[in-house]
Parts: sequence; structure tokens; C-alpha cells
Amino acid sequence: MHRSLMALMLATAAITPAFGQSSIVGSGINPSAAQNSDVRPITFAATAPANGALVILMRDANVPASSVDAATAQALVAAITAAKFEGKEGSSLSLRGIGGYSRILLSGTGQEGDRLANIRNAAGKAAQDLRDEAQPVAITGGLDANAATTAALGYALGQYRFDRYKTVDKKAPPVNPVVIVTNDNAGAQSLWQTRHAALAEGVALSRDLATEPANVIYPETFVDRVRAAFGTTANVKIEVLDEPAMRKLGMGSLVGVGQGSRRPSRLLLVEYRGAGDGAPLAFVGKGITFDSGGMSLKPGAGMWEMKADMSGAANIMGAMLSLAKSKASVNVVGVAALSENMPGGNAQRPGDVVRTMSGKTIEVLNTDAEGRLVMADANEYVIASRKPAALVNMATLTGSIVGALNDEYAGLFSRDDRLAAAITAAGTTTGEEVWRMPLHKNYLDDMKSDIADIKNVVEGGGPGAGLGATFVGFFVGKDLPWAHLDIAGVNWADKSGPVTPKGASGWGVRLLDEMARNWR
Ligand code: BES
Ligand code: MN
Ligand code: ZN
Repeated sequence: MHRSLMALMLATAAITPAFGQSSIVGSGINPSAAQNSDVRPITFAATAPANGALVILMRDANVPASSVDAATAQALVAAITAAKFEGKEGSSLSLRGIGGYSRILLSGTGQEGDRLANIRNAAGKAAQDLRDEAQPVAITGGLDANAATTAALGYALGQYRFDRYKTVDKKAPPVNPVVIVTNDNAGAQSLWQTRHAALAEGVALSRDLATEPANVIYPETFVDRVRAAFGTTANVKIEVLDEPAMRKLGMGSLVGVGQGSRRPSRLLLVEYRGAGDGAPLAFVGKGITFDSGGMSLKPGAGMWEMKADMSGAANIMGAMLSLAKSKASVNVVGVAALSENMPGGNAQRPGDVVRTMSGKTIEVLNTDAEGRLVMADANEYVIASRKPAALVNMATLTGSIVGALNDEYAGLFSRDDRLAAAITAAGTTTGEEVWRMPLHKNYLDDMKSDIADIKNVVEGGGPGAGLGATFVGFFVGKDLPWAHLDIAGVNWADKSGPVTPKGASGWGVRLLDEMARNWR
């Protein structure tokens, strides 16, 4: 046989169906064979090693007592004075040639603001600064169990990497551990294992899903990945509706969005019961695995970012994973409304009218306002089938919210002050902050359609994020506590932040996890 033909056959054989991806034809990508580099295992210890890279968390210019030996402390004092290092939050000083250490990184936490948040951020930044450091890393600074696990979480979030498709110039992964030094080793271990490790895993799941290109993650493979992530986790039930099932239920709005794509839509529900039979909290996320705009096609520049238009759904799955794996005492159902918005021959057209599961009809004036269309049916299904006590939506819904709040806040829309307060508080604790936006009653008048119950856009724009939120809220009963988070400005980090390396942020996993634990 001809050698190149033989090579071709071997290469084809290597593209084995992984995560059910038998239909990735021609891309040559095999996600299950291409693994991300290892990251540092996270460990805890009572004393810092005397070598390797050492991170010292500093509130001010003073080296915390007993973090290093006397000679090292003396050398540090000289360096701190010479560099005028003050330990201000976010500042750092990298030193070499001191003691037996390959490097000492002084990382400022400052004394203002929330101490745990400052520790989390300093540890996350250190993880990024020491990304390619070959030596073991230790973090010290008078940390009790709570502070130590917070540092561990920050480190885990900061060291996230997605390099599975790199084959050249791939940096050797830092397999040496990070040691978090704490005066309560047992307490820190147990906090980490019972809570924060699962949270870091949830954030990584969300980031992976959002970073993966749309030829790898589409509705069916999103489901496969989530199933694989949950494995046999206790008290979790997974339900998946395919297109025939959704059509039967009358979900014309959700199915309509996906009908221009070769990739069929899915509705994924992950139910976790950690607190008996009480009514669950419901999280419903927008899961557009690629948003081309459909027939109302988006311009080419930056369109690639729409591979992350499933971030709402990804975050919800990440939060579900965290809650379930940490055995939180809550009942939650997480829903991913999964479609690919493409301008295929069977795509819906601007002007089409669709009927939702609720019976209400929509005039689709712009196929690029598709998130609200999938949310309408997903919300209806979870309300009808699970009778939740409250409903929280998370979606990369509008460019308008990016203009209003950029990446400092997500937009929060709610008719329920108690739910809004719970979400706001969770945002403050986790550093995933929200800003409440208005739902004026005039918005709904503006969305009246001439030929259906509601139209999906208002010509000429207007308060875009508020109109989108109003549309989604139109399908949710007034007596159900409901909130919607528009995360279009926060789901992707254009530049690295303390706990968010550049790229998919997983913004909202920690907020939803925190909110669910405190909700009652
Ligand atoms: N997925 C987009 C919103 C988006 C924009 C997310 C930028 C992340 C960054 C959404 O589906 C969309 O296209 N919204 C339109 C709505 C408009 C047609 C009413 C928008 O915001 O332009
Ligand atoms: Mn769109
Ligand atoms: Zn979209």
C-alpha cells in the first residue's frame, strides 16, 4: 500500500469517537487524546519547606512571624526597604538569591477590604506569576484553616490552563506540588476536601466547556462532558431531552433556534438532592454552543468569541458539580438550554412566529436574539416539571450589558428583592459582583408584537439588556421568585485578573454555589 495512504488511514483510525464525537469529520481533533497539562497538586503543611519557590502573603512591609528563618528574614527586610515594598493589595516583589530558595515572591494582601478575598486574589496572582516555575511552591503568611483553603482556592483558579491542542512550544507542566502552610493542617485539609476542591473543579469544568471550540462542544457533546464530570456522584439525576421529546412538549422556541444547525438541540437537567424532598432552587442557563447570529448573521470580527455563548449553562453545571461533590445540604436543579444558532437551509427566518411550551407565541424579528428564545422554553419546562421554589437565570444575553457594566459587574434583573439581595450578597462574598438593573413596565409595552404575543427584539435597540430580561421574565409567573443574570460582560476575560487567567472566566460558578448554600 502507498505509504501516505497508510499514514492517512492510521490518522483516521486515531480520530476515534470520544465523548460521542463520531461526527467530527475532517477536523482531526481528538479531545479525549489531547489532555490539558497537569497542574500542581494542592497540599497543606504545618511548616514551610526551606527551598523551592516561596510565596509570602504580606499585609504590610513586615515579614509575618515564623514564616522564614532569622537569616532569611533579615535578607528580606533589606530587600523590602530597598524596594520600598509596602504589601499593598495587588503588589508583589520577586526576589532571587535569598537563602536556599529558588525564588521568594512577596505578595501583598494589604489591610483594607475583605481579608479572605485579598488572600484569594494574592494566591491566584502568585499562581499565574509562578506558572512556569519548575520548583515546588509554598505559600505562607500566618494562615488559619479558612485562610489556607481560601489561598488554595485562589491558587487553583489562578493556575488553570487550557493547552490541550498545543503541540509545539508547549511549556513543561509544573508537576511539583504547591504547599499551603497553615497552623491548622487538619482543619485546612478537611475544608479543602469537603468544599473548596469541588468548587475549583466546578470552575475548571465551566472554563473547559467555554474554551473548547464549537467543533468540539455542541449540544450533544456538552451533555457527554457533563455526564462524564458527574460520573457516579451521589444524589444526582440527569435528564436529557432530545429534539423529538422537546417538539412533543411544544418547545417551538428552543427547537427553532437550533433548526438551522446540523447539530441537534438538547435540554439537559442535572438534579441534585442534598436536603430531602423540599422544592428545589432552579438554575437555568443559556447554552448556545455557537452563536453565529443565524440568518441575522453577526459580522465576522470577534465572532469566534461566540463559542462561549454557552457560558451561562457551563457555569450552572460547574456550580452543580461543586454542590453535589461537596454534598451541600441543598436541593438544586441545574438546566442547560443547548442549541447551536446557525444560518443553515432550515434556519428560522426573521419574521417567523414560534409557539413556546407555555402556549405563548413569539415573533422572531431578529434571529440573533436567540438566547431569550431558548430560555423561555427551558424555564417553562423546569417550572412545570420541578415546581422550583425560586428560579435564577444566567445568560450571555446582550451586548448591551457589556456597554453598561463592562467586566466589573454582571447585570442583575429581578422582581424579587429577597432573591436579589441573596444574589448580591453571594456576589460580594465571592468577588463575582452584580449590579441591579431596572425592569420598567414600559419595556414590556415596547415588546408587543403586531401578530404574536411578544416580539424578540425592539427595532432601534433601546435599553437592550432590560428588554432581553423583560422578554425572559414575560414567561415566568409573577408569584415565582425569579432573577436573571446577564453575564455577557464577565464570562470572558480579555486580560488576566487575579483568579482569572485570560480566557473563559467561569464567572458565576462561585456565586451560584455560595448563593445556593445560603438560600432558604
Ligand atoms: N450572545 C449574544 C450577546 C453577546 C454579545 C454575548 C457580546 C457576549 C458578547 C446575543 O445572542 C446577541 O446576539 N444579542 C444581541 C441582541 C439584539 C439582537 C437584540 C445583541 O446584544 O446585540
Ligand atoms: Mn445572538
Ligand atoms: Zn447569543
